[in-house]
Order: sequence, then structure tokens, then C-alpha cells
Amino acid sequence: MKNVADLIEVTQVAQSRISEVDFNHLIFGAVYTDHMFVMDYKDGVWQTPKIIPYQAFSYEPSAKVFHYGQAIFEGMKAYKFIETGDVYLFRPEKNIRRMNLSAERLAMPQIPEDIFLSALKKLVDLDSSWVPEGFGKALYIRPVFIATENQISAAPSTDYRFMIILSPADKYYSGDVKVKIETRYSRACNGGIGYAKAAGNYAAQFMPTNKALEEGYQQIIWTDSCNHKYLEEAGTMNMFFRLGDNLVTAPTGDRILNGVTRDSIITLAKDHGINVEVRPIEVKEVVEGAKSGHLKEIFGTGTAATVLPIVGLGYEGEYYALPRLDNAYANVLKEMLMNIQYGIAPDPYGWMVPVKK
Ligand code: COI
Repeated sequence: MKNVADLIEVTQVAQSRISEVDFNHLIFGAVYTDHMFVMDYKDGVWQTPKIIPYQAFSYEPSAKVFHYGQAIFEGMKAYKFIETGDVYLFRPEKNIRRMNLSAERLAMPQIPEDIFLSALKKLVDLDSSWVPEGFGKALYIRPVFIATENQISAAPSTDYRFMIILSPADKYYSGDVKVKIETRYSRACNGGIGYAKAAGNYAAQFMPTNKALEEGYQQIIWTDSCNHKYLEEAGTMNMFFRLGDNLVTAPTGDRILNGVTRDSIITLAKDHGINVEVRPIEVKEVVEGAKSGHLKEIFGTGTAATVLPIVGLGYEGEYYALPRLDNAYANVLKEMLMNIQYGIAPDPYGWMVPVKK
């Protein structure tokens, strides 16, 4: 019997573009590797999975993705181990599962998980020379799944395209990041699609984030859409609050993305004796904590952002600077996580998956 990886047809580029890339000045999401993965879904059946040269493709203006936003994506990374140069994926099974949860919510077909994992390994292995070297750099992996049927009736598409593209990446944020607590606009509601990595969730936050940028903030923290009383997630990250010596983060559910980095940080924190509380967090508690000094840190977690310390927060026109601590949880936990991701520390959790079998 054929192994799943052997089902993937491969057409390689005649000439790599890698020599055109300045790996010392990588802009997030600006450069793509030589190859991409593509697999179409037609007449209820997944078609032949293929790795092909990275390329543009065209669809008719009536393709459903342009009208009804049946589009989901994932964000993952491949890391080059510092000493050996071997390339590993970080917890890929989590993203694969989450993509299928998103697909279910948007009435899209399930992607066969074995083909998805084989595609990730085979594609990243083929373009492994594009995985940047060095602590903090990685190959950003963007699986994306769109509705392609040429039909503008408001019903799920019959045809789809699933793709994976790769981009060498450095830090997502540079410079200090301040967050604004958003109390006018909302990202998600109970029963909605907040937990899915749906393209539209990101479009919906651009305008409120632009307003925050005009006010000097780099990100917003969403509050619950009912009463704007509880803190949820930020635009590209889950959020953690250190209140006293406890680390508090909101529970995931209908409205909050179940972040892989969030889950990893909770595990690392608990295993290193930090008391973690996963519970609803009132805006009032955090703002009062900022005033009294009980709030010691805020940080965000996400694949692109990794672990990002926040320098201050804004709420109802007031700005609260946060202390800059030696041994901040954000820095300690980030280092622990990255030591595993770059093969510097042992991986007791089995998080790192080699791209070569
Ligand atoms: C990620 O962290 O991978 C994300 O998906 C956020 C993205 C919008 C940059």
C-alpha cells in the first residue's frame, strides 16, 4: 500500500529564488518560498494533492470566497534546531485539528488529517533551506482553505481549494507594544465564529485596530460583546495577566481562539510552579490592578507573535504604564518555550515533530 506522502505529486522549480532573499531583513509575510501545496475538493471528493512551484492562480469573480467569506486559515511555524540544523514543526496536530473545527463551523469539508500532516512535512522538507537560522527566526506556515465554486447563491460552496504557503519570518512585532481595551466594537459573540480561524474575524478587527493605532496603541484587547465587562483576546494573540504572582488568562470557548502557544505557555507555567488561573477576567480587576500595582504584567501569545510583553494599557482615555520587571513571567516562559522550539532544551512534551521521518 502507498504511504500517504507518496500520494503527493511533486513538481519542483527549475531555479530557486532563495538567493534573492535577505535573511537578515525579513519583513513578516513579504517573501514566499519556492513551493506551495495545493489540493482541490470537487464533486464531494478530494483531488490529487500536489506540491507545485509557488504561483498566482485565478478564479472567476463569482467564486464564493469573494462573496460570502467562506475562508479559513492557520498559522504555524517550522524551526531550525540551533545545533543540528534539523527542521521541526511545533505541535502540528493542534493546528490541523483546529483547522477542521473552523471548517466544520463554516460548513466546509474536513481536510484529511493524514494528508495535511504529510503535506506539511514534505513541503517544509523540500523548502528546508528557506527555514531561517537563529533564535527567534522561523519558517511561518500558512495553510489556507477557500470556497471556489462559481455560484453566488448564499449557500456553502461545492468546490474548494486547500493550500499551504511558507514564508521565512523574524519577529512579528518590533518595538514596544501598548494595548487598548476595546469597549465599543466587538469581535465575537456566543454561538458565533470567534473560535474559528475565519478570515472575516481578522477583517472585522482592522477598523477598530486602526482607531487604536491613531491613539498610539498597537493592538486592542477585545471585551465580551454583551457588556464589555470581561477581557477576551487581542487581534493576533491570546492574553495573559499577572495579578500578584498568579497568571490569569480567559477561558476559550465560542468567542476566543484556542491558541496553541497559549496552551503551551499554560503547560510550561504550571510545570514550573506558577499558579495559573483560567477564568473570566473583569476589565475592572485589571484596571484597578494597574492603578494599585497588583497588575504586574500583561503579555500576549500567538504563533506569529510568540510571547509578547505589553508595556502599557489604555482604558477609557487613560493610559497605564506597566512596570518593567526583571524575571518577568513573559521573558522566563518565552525562553523556556523557545529553548524547546530550537532544540536547546529537552522536549518532555513531544511537541517538536521532525519534518524528516
Ligand atoms: C498567527 O499568530 O499565526 C496568526 O494567525 C496571527 C496572524 C494574523 C498574523
